[in-house]
Amino acid sequence: MNKRPFLIDCDTGTDDAIAILAALYSPQIDVKAITSVNGNVAERYTSQNNLNLVEYLGKSVPVAHGAVRPLLGGVLDTEGAPDTHGKTGLGGIQLPTAQRSFDPRVADQLIYETAVECKGELELLVVGPMTNIAIALCNHGDLAGLIKHIWFMGGACQGGNVLPTAEFNIWADALAGHIVTQSGIPMTMVGLDVTLKAVMTEEDIAQLRGVGTKACTLAADLLDFMVRRRDAGGEDLVMHDALALGAALCPECLTCVDAFVDVEYSGTYTMGHTFSDAGRRYPAGKPNASVALDIDVPMFRKWLVETISRSKAEE
Ligand code: RIB
Ligand code: CA
Repeated sequence: MNKRPFLIDCDTGTDDAIAILAALYSPQIDVKAITSVNGNVAERYTSQNNLNLVEYLGKSVPVAHGAVRPLLGGVLDTEGAPDTHGKTGLGGIQLPTAQRSFDPRVADQLIYETAVECKGELELLVVGPMTNIAIALCNHGDLAGLIKHIWFMGGACQGGNVLPTAEFNIWADALAGHIVTQSGIPMTMVGLDVTLKAVMTEEDIAQLRGVGTKACTLAADLLDFMVRRRDAGGEDLVMHDALALGAALCPECLTCVDAFVDVEYSGTYTMGHTFSDAGRRYPAGKPNASVALDIDVPMFRKWLVETISRSKAEE
């Protein structure tokens, strides 16, 4: 079976790292590159996390630096969410510092050249602020026609997690969110409506730890950090980013509807709001996205544990 070519753009963070683990061991896809962006923590940490992760796992995936600040949004290089992901983004887990170098290209160039190389078959997993994607679209007029699909974790039809009506990835660079959602590229929005339900359990951790591979042990360690975070009153073991990958590789895990989506990039109280007419009761425009509204949680958890557990075949 031909593997689907993917590029992952992320602000690695704990849940990004779990999504990358699943992507690297999925039999369905070929991870062509990983690009880093400022978000959960500063880009100097997100990029180093990505490089350390792929080297730790013995994978030869190119990793590139990316945007250190948004086009127009809420998070600067020194902010982010260290309380949610730890100061350097991996929950205090210290991977060996990679010996290899970063890809010499910055994110937008690597995204473009990978898209050209894949001749229109490249799919993007976008699980951080969309800055790199927006820059790539602005710098390369033909890029939109070269991307087969964008699977993004971001936004929400209802609610938010940084403002009552804004989710972090989109809020962190609202203008980038607008540029990408209006690009005409086929896309699937995996927002808080479903990701907040994608919660792993201690049983899942035990199952991963029982496999005993580096990937499964690292996933278990990341989830154990999330247990401590939850028990201290923080976020639960929420697989925001892995669920965006799940939308692509386990579509039966989600129920999606076509809708018009855009991002508010101005406004005192609405910066970063993802507007969606999901349900189409009040159609606001031609549908430009598939929006996930419901999730089969047991099916998703089983898919995620089984996918990372495929690392056993490589060790
Ligand atoms: O709002 C959740 C999103 O923000 C996730 O992608 C998480 O990693 C953070 O980037
Ligand atoms: Ca993320």
